[in-house]
Amino acid sequence: MKEVLKLEGGHRLSGKIRISGSKNATVALIPAAILSGSGPVTIFGVPEIKDVESLTELLEELNVSVVRKDSGHLVIDPSKMKNTPLVSDTVMKLRASYYFMGALLGKYKQVQMKMPGGCYLGPRPIDLHLKGFEKLGATVDYIKGDYHIKADKLVGANIFLDIASVGATINIMMAAVYAEGKTIISNAAKEPEIIDVATMLNKMGANIKGAGTNEITIEGVELLTGCSHEIIPDRIEAGTYLIIAVGAADEMIIENVIPHHLESLISKLNEMNANIEVEVDRIIVRQSNSLVGADIQTLPYPGFATDLQQPLTTLLTQATGKSVIKETIYAERFKHCIELQRMGADIDVGVATAYINGPTKLYGDVVTATDLRCGASLVVAGLIAEGVTEINEVYHIDRGYDDLDGKLTALGAKIWREKK
Ligand code: EPU
Repeated sequence: MKEVLKLEGGHRLSGKIRISGSKNATVALIPAAILSGSGPVTIFGVPEIKDVESLTELLEELNVSVVRKDSGHLVIDPSKMKNTPLVSDTVMKLRASYYFMGALLGKYKQVQMKMPGGCYLGPRPIDLHLKGFEKLGATVDYIKGDYHIKADKLVGANIFLDIASVGATINIMMAAVYAEGKTIISNAAKEPEIIDVATMLNKMGANIKGAGTNEITIEGVELLTGCSHEIIPDRIEAGTYLIIAVGAADEMIIENVIPHHLESLISKLNEMNANIEVEVDRIIVRQSNSLVGADIQTLPYPGFATDLQQPLTTLLTQATGKSVIKETIYAERFKHCIELQRMGADIDVGVATAYINGPTKLYGDVVTATDLRCGASLVVAGLIAEGVTEINEVYHIDRGYDDLDGKLTALGAKIWREKK
């Protein structure tokens, strides 16, 4: 039996919503915790999402104890850990299982694991991760579907990333914490999640400087220990609710946000004529009567996040005029446009570009969440559309949005699930 998510559109939303801990930080922090050579790591603010369940299963395969306490509080104790090959199907449930490569290589100088899975957004190679491991002294073999990565010892190196990849930056950082000497990652990615991972590793005893800039220096240390760490708020979840608020709310207060992490989105929404008030750690959105179209180009942080491009597409269908979206990170991240067209949107997709003509009325239909943020764009559409929208493959959404149904219901949305 499959589960579908249903939304009845047209109900104006109002009220407060609290943003959960960052998914993309969490999925790196959990593998990072196994680097402790002495004592448990306690992580606060862990979102209740399927990706966390999958990573917990992988920790259990490694004989790491994981205890989930109330309200997003996870205690990870790797004291009885075994470096078992990670070859179960769980590895393929998410992209971020690749962080176990860096963490296990860093700790044991050896790792065997399957190719990670995750959302299909066009080709998503991991060559930069692997080249980084090789620079640190590891050999990488791909045999019958498994990566075998090992080193006699890891030695610090200068590593230039051809592309400022989030995953490669974090993975190399984790592999280098125990390496002999100094590693310098140049053209490093600067996303806030990278700072969060470096902050936790430093609390554990690592010596990482420069996270959040394009040059990160890691001085190898002998031992990392347990620590306590609170995850930063999820800027993509916050951005999704900001977009929902602009499209469907009379007034919404979005709490537990770091507005600085959302500058590129807020500036774009302001350009579209949204009514947004930014406070220290919350954002208030009030109804705006006349949204206008805008052009967007996705870029690495602090540029416009590719993860928010999809939910924003839906809002642009409600804005007057022509909008153009250029996708420079994932050229094929436009599957949501086909689903939105089904609901009445006027969108043409060209090479790494979408052209949106607005405003168009959206109508509820049966659509498919082809990936996580496509799912978010369809939720935004379902809230705005006339009639009932039925979203298939809802598990994609559950991978990354904590209590979506509960949060939206509290704001006055009509959202429910059905088994079919
Ligand atoms: N790339 C390579 N080689 C590599 C690594 C990346 O060519 O070895 C390319 C990618 O194909 C892409 C670009 O570099 O064109 C950037 O990819 P990056 O490595 O930064 O992406 P990622 O680490 O795989 C993370 C997020 C994604 C988010 C991207 C871009 C996690 C777990 N995932 O992916 O989040 O879209 O950064 O910001 O942190 C999502 O949350 O829905 C999501 C897909």
